[in-house]
Amino acid sequence: MAKASKTFSCTSCGASFNKWSGRCDGCGEWNTIVEDGGLSSGPPSRSLGNKRGASLILTDLSTEEAPPPRSQSGISELDRVLGGGLVPASATLVGGDPGIGKSTLLLQAAAHFARSGLKTIYVSGEEASAQVRMRAQRLGLQDAPVKLAAETNLRDILTTLEAEKPELAIIDSIQTMWADNVEAAPGSVSQVRAAAHELTTFAKRRGVSVFLVGHVTKDGQIAGPRVVEHMVDTVLYFEGERGHQFRILRSVKNRFGPADEIGVFEMTGSGLAEVKNPSALFLSERGEPSAGSVVFAGIEGTRPVLVELQALVAPSPHSQARRTVVGWDGGRLAMILAVLEARCGIPFAGLDVYLNVAGGMKISEPAADLAVAAALLSAREDVALPANTVVFGEISLSGALRPAAQTENRLKEAQKLGFTSAIAPKGSKAGGSAGMKLQPMADLSDVVGGIFGAG
Ligand code: TYD
Ligand code: MG
Repeated sequence: MAKASKTFSCTSCGASFNKWSGRCDGCGEWNTIVEDGGLSSGPPSRSLGNKRGASLILTDLSTEEAPPPRSQSGISELDRVLGGGLVPASATLVGGDPGIGKSTLLLQAAAHFARSGLKTIYVSGEEASAQVRMRAQRLGLQDAPVKLAAETNLRDILTTLEAEKPELAIIDSIQTMWADNVEAAPGSVSQVRAAAHELTTFAKRRGVSVFLVGHVTKDGQIAGPRVVEHMVDTVLYFEGERGHQFRILRSVKNRFGPADEIGVFEMTGSGLAEVKNPSALFLSERGEPSAGSVVFAGIEGTRPVLVELQALVAPSPHSQARRTVVGWDGGRLAMILAVLEARCGIPFAGLDVYLNVAGGMKISEPAADLAVAAALLSAREDVALPANTVVFGEISLSGALRPAAQTENRLKEAQKLGFTSAIAPKGSKAGGSAGMKLQPMADLSDVVGGIFGAG
């Protein structure tokens, strides 16, 4: 008999290895590799052999099938992020930092779906039923027809779901679930993987929509939600800064709708409230025009969103100047600084650079390049942009500016919020936003000279 060899997995991304190492080759995290508990996590030792299987029934691509009837929760920010409502028999992962509001969101969603007629079961592995009931009371949802259980034993949960035949089951959280056929502690990679696999196959087989809550973990002791991302249909992350009341639900994968869609919520004393006009909210803390502050007209998913970027540029007391970014990509900031220096003659050597996206928002669009460059220039030259101006556009390594997608939507949103002018790449099509004055720029050096009088 072959010797049972040990296998190891990364608790952050789930990659498998046959030996331990300090750093995961898959995701680059440190100290996340742990030995797998239980047997049979490696490849099977025998081949399938000669025994014949059953024949599959093959179909044509053109098979006519109506799109699945989606259920609406009535929380429109959630329904939109799901791609237009909940798809039957789908598996959705809701990831996020502990304490960010996942349980609150899903209890509210459960109550809304249940009130709209969906048979709903909420299983909490983290809190006692009494605690969940107390939260429901605080949220004013105590009379919603949601069935509740506090349990972590997966076998018992599946048996109950099979008997009760709900249309929606919420499992809070996947890290507390425990499958008795896997010899490993709850929260380990093998347990989380096994539990997620059982629950997603159950969802498909029995036609139950399942939500799995997954905590993002900072240390390597507990497997993070990335371990199950590939098993589910939809992956949503609930983001936000603890100090801010804004919460953003972002779809990073969706087999039934667009990815990168966001829903914006506000955490209040009585639960999460929808934010129908996120731009107004993100700009609400903006004061008088000041150097370093620039409004970026962005697109998140299918929706335009205006956010304020704040930059601070100051002489550095350190031998190596600092570059600190919150809400944007640090590598992209380095690129913009290099383009400003190499193509426009604006050096940042010896200067500390801080960039912050206001309101705890995270941006990943390349169209933010020009807004970032404008914020950096504004801070460095101590020149404030007029309060009525928004900025957007992509910067290439040559310093040339490229028009951004959906220019018209960006301008319309800006106009709606009282802006009258936009600094944007030459060639941007303004379309029907008549009230907006477009200041077209072909190159980053035009912005440097034309707007900030530098270079
Ligand atoms: P919770 O949903 O328990 O977070 P998670 O499940 O992601 O760990 O939310 C926890 C925080 O939300 C907690 O610090 C209290 C706050 N909160 C409110 O501000 N208002 C509310 O109505 C509720 C229920 C929670
Ligand atoms: Mg929770």
